[in-house]
Amino acid sequence: MDFHFGLIGYPVKHSLSPWIHEKFLQKAGLSGNYSIIEITPDESLKARLTHLEGQGVDGFNVTVPYKQTVIPYLDEIDPEAKAIGAVNTVVKQGDKWKGYNTDGKGYTRALKNKFPNTFLNKENRILIIGAGGAARGIYYALAQERFHQIDIANRTISSAENIAELCLESTKTAILSLDDARKSMHGYDVIIQTTSIGMKPNQEQSVIPVKAVKPSCIVSDIVYQPLETRFLSEAKKAGASIQYGHTMLLYQAQYAFEIWTNKHVPVDTMDNELQHRLEGR
Ligand code: ATR
Repeated sequence: MDFHFGLIGYPVKHSLSPWIHEKFLQKAGLSGNYSIIEITPDESLKARLTHLEGQGVDGFNVTVPYKQTVIPYLDEIDPEAKAIGAVNTVVKQGDKWKGYNTDGKGYTRALKNKFPNTFLNKENRILIIGAGGAARGIYYALAQERFHQIDIANRTISSAENIAELCLESTKTAILSLDDARKSMHGYDVIIQTTSIGMKPNQEQSVIPVKAVKPSCIVSDIVYQPLETRFLSEAKKAGASIQYGHTMLLYQAQYAFEIWTNKHVPVDTMDNELQHRLEGR
């Protein structure tokens, strides 16, 4: 059987997902392809989805600006994607489209792979900076891991409050301004930067200074262009352990591939290759 996968979004021409998923197909010993399906904002999403169905697509990823707008056209939504309110992976099950969200779980897989001990102590205090779609998925996935304290800092307080509504009984969440976050950095064991600040071509920018972290802290950024953001290099100078953003890209794709094919493909050897590709851009 030939698998047909793809990515819908706009703009998506420079996506790394075709490279990642075609590697997964190869490693899993499956045949198929993964194509870029650019849908411009003036096109009908519904018509394009109907067309995909006719083309025999088995599954597709969804990126901006369609992660929310795709939902009404799906037959079923996984509970996690429903809670997050966004879908990034769709699979054909029989004659139905089912939507999932693999971003948050992909993030926690990446973090767990590099720092497994962090997940053994649920007292580790976590700070998420930013309150957009990515922050929402990451917050949800970490709350599912039963960490006791996951705080959110954001420029707009109401957006952070909105995410905190996903809170489980096992987790407490304080909402902080960016200035409060800057002042209380030393109190956290894991700090996750989820805004797009610091992304090329604005790599000199950083959402807040990150010099006052404790050396045992893990500092992570979901921006992966550049690989080492200003936020991460400041944290590294302060002695913290850092995690690059491309790992989330890799693991959310790994989880999507599992949903589509039921095959688990290890990504360890792809990590370096992806880093080189990103550095060469
Ligand atoms: P995504 O869905 O990809 O996570 P998003 O919804 O655009 O992206 O979220 C962007 C995040 O970056 C938000 O937390 C946003 O803060 P606000 O909620 O206050 O808008 C944050 N952000 C973007 N530009 C910012 C800036 N210049 N200063 C501070 N925060 C910023």
